[in-house]
Amino acid sequence: MRVVSGIQPTGDLHLGNLLGAILRWVRMQDEAECLFFLADLHALTVEVDPAQLRSNIREMAAALIASGIDPARSILFRQRSVPAHAELAWILQGTARMGWLNRMTQFKEKSGKNREGSSVGLFTYPVLQAADILLYRATHVPVGEDQKQHVELTRDIALKFNTDFDVDLFVPPEPFIGGGTAARVMSLRDGRAKMSKSDPSEMSRILLTDSNDLIAQKVRKAKTDPEPLPADVSGLDERPEAKNLVGIYGAVTGETVDQVLGRFAGQGFGAFKPALSDALIALLEPLRMRLEQFRADPAELDRILAAGSERAASLGAPTLDAAYDAVGLSR
Ligand code: TRP
Repeated sequence: MRVVSGIQPTGDLHLGNLLGAILRWVRMQDEAECLFFLADLHALTVEVDPAQLRSNIREMAAALIASGIDPARSILFRQRSVPAHAELAWILQGTARMGWLNRMTQFKEKSGKNREGSSVGLFTYPVLQAADILLYRATHVPVGEDQKQHVELTRDIALKFNTDFDVDLFVPPEPFIGGGTAARVMSLRDGRAKMSKSDPSEMSRILLTDSNDLIAQKVRKAKTDPEPLPADVSGLDERPEAKNLVGIYGAVTGETVDQVLGRFAGQGFGAFKPALSDALIALLEPLRMRLEQFRADPAELDRILAAGSERAASLGAPTLDAAYDAVGLSR
């Protein structure tokens, strides 16, 4: 079993990024050989602010390591540093069909009413993603619900290439729901909206850089209802804010919602919120310290990424060569 996954280097990382994606990767390291990369080439498919992109790449890399991605066990690298991603993507542009890409819902969502004004890169984004995966002959790709369609497209591309060129080169990957369930973290101000860096209210999200006092303050002010916590999960059905806070608590401590409710049933938020902020601080404080260390020593970060890129490049090289051979472009 070999796992490959990428994440776009966004800034202002918050609890939603951590519990929804990053900690799943961390747990996955115990289950499989893992390659994790910053999808910095994918970041070019929408408007680019070069200075911002440069800093987001460092921030995301630091956050991944600070959160527990272990560069000694997993291969952590930047997509840009392994040119084989872009090369294989170009080869696969000959295999992917317009009709397949036309069906991709993420392109439809991201381009919206401005299809004609979208970059070509945004349209072929899933082909680069397929190259990311097929280059390493990954068996499993941990992704959220929104990326499943891209993994299925990757399977289609792999199978068509193998058939067209009569080779047994690419491994059709499976989407992978390992590393435990990803927590869907909602806004602290509105239990029906996802926690997001673009929400105008800063009180709606907890950033990985927030001080302990600020974390406690945001939890104290989080929207709730006047009822005590119920004894079982179904009691949270019509209570999105309560459900969110209980979900966050469980994701942070590693408990199921049932276990959390078993401990807090019948208690109000006056008792639950302080416990929640303690748990959050216990998770985030050491993480924040490690982040600060990397901020102070960016050369260490660059060294880790360079070492990861080298390992990734040598794993991917034989697949790229074989793909060139298959299409008649041997050296
Ligand atoms: N498209 C993915 C996302 O937005 C990121 C990504 C790029 C990716 N390449 C990948 C994920 C390869 C898994 C495998 O989340």
